[in-house]
Amino acid sequence: MNFASDNIVGASAPVMEALMRANAGTMLAYGNDEITKRIKARFAEIFEHEVSVFLVTTGTAANALALSSAVPPWGLCVCHREAHVIDDECGAPEFFMHGAKLIGLPGVGAKLTAETVRSYLEGLPKAVKQMPPKALSISQVTECGMVYGLDEIATLSAVCREHGLTLHMDGARFVNALVSLGCTPAEMTWKQGVDILSFGATKNGCLMAEAIVVFRPDLAEALDYRAKRAGQVISKGRLIAAQLEGYFADDHWYANARHANRMATLLSEGLTQLPGVRLAWPTEANEVFPIVPKTLDRALKAAGASYLTWTEASLPENEKIGADEVIIRLVLSFATQEEEVSKLLDVARAALSRQAAE
Ligand SMILES: Cc1ncc(COP(=O)(O)O)c(C=O)c1O
Repeated sequence: MNFASDNIVGASAPVMEALMRANAGTMLAYGNDEITKRIKARFAEIFEHEVSVFLVTTGTAANALALSSAVPPWGLCVCHREAHVIDDECGAPEFFMHGAKLIGLPGVGAKLTAETVRSYLEGLPKAVKQMPPKALSISQVTECGMVYGLDEIATLSAVCREHGLTLHMDGARFVNALVSLGCTPAEMTWKQGVDILSFGATKNGCLMAEAIVVFRPDLAEALDYRAKRAGQVISKGRLIAAQLEGYFADDHWYANARHANRMATLLSEGLTQLPGVRLAWPTEANEVFPIVPKTLDRALKAAGASYLTWTEASLPENEKIGADEVIIRLVLSFATQEEEVSKLLDVARAALSRQAAE
């Protein structure tokens, strides 16, 4: 019963098979191989747009490099205050932006609204003493498991245009959001004004493969040099590209995300039927955030369940956590078995009825 994250499992079979196939023989190094060329062309097909693609090994590298191409050392990058880029990357974006700052704004469910961003931008003094805002970074799926709707992305992008900001999307769970919205990759990105994307694949089946997908050519100009300076021009690059080839083949990435999202829905529906359990944020992709009694949290952990405790910082205004309650985060992956979900629900049910009888 391990629901700690979607990176606790290994890679999925089609990805490993593609990797094994690519392992044989010799090929040019540093991304000059045929597989990397094919995968770059595949990204252009998938996104229905000319794109520059840079393959990297971690989401942190993708985010830090993407933002470094959008923000000069004297600039600001606006994000949610719980965003992975500001909270979980040990300052890598600021490091690669060479002095630029990340500014975290509030928002329910780790989502930013156009109003919040606009009023922050309009309140900034325009003086040489003030670092000018240069980019907005949003996470799709958010750190609280919510998904920006297409209209929400479009209105954020309109604010970016008004103020001359680049719009970056941290898509660590990109396809989980696509499945949730039922739209195309193009519709969720450049058609709504996204300029540069960190395309995540590791959490949904790859071994270690992420991509920076650039829709605006000027942002790609120096990205190969930036990637090299970050140690992200991978000598056996074909083995990163091969993972993505296995990932995209036969829509395997969609199948994986559909499964993970379905498992999350099952778990979410089961949990909300339990007395004393409610959701902190709606289940919109592959993460579930229930508010549970601390007694239940202890019982689940005693039974061997693994998951994280979450912060209440981005709860809706009318939601309050009692002293005897806690928010937990359960993440479902392409490899989650339905039996694991049922087992967690059985353990929870049994613990609650035991506690009620005491
Ligand atoms: C929202 C978000 N962005 C990016 C990442 C990628 O981070 P990593 O550098 O661990 O691949 C994660 C992983 O937890 C994430 O949740």
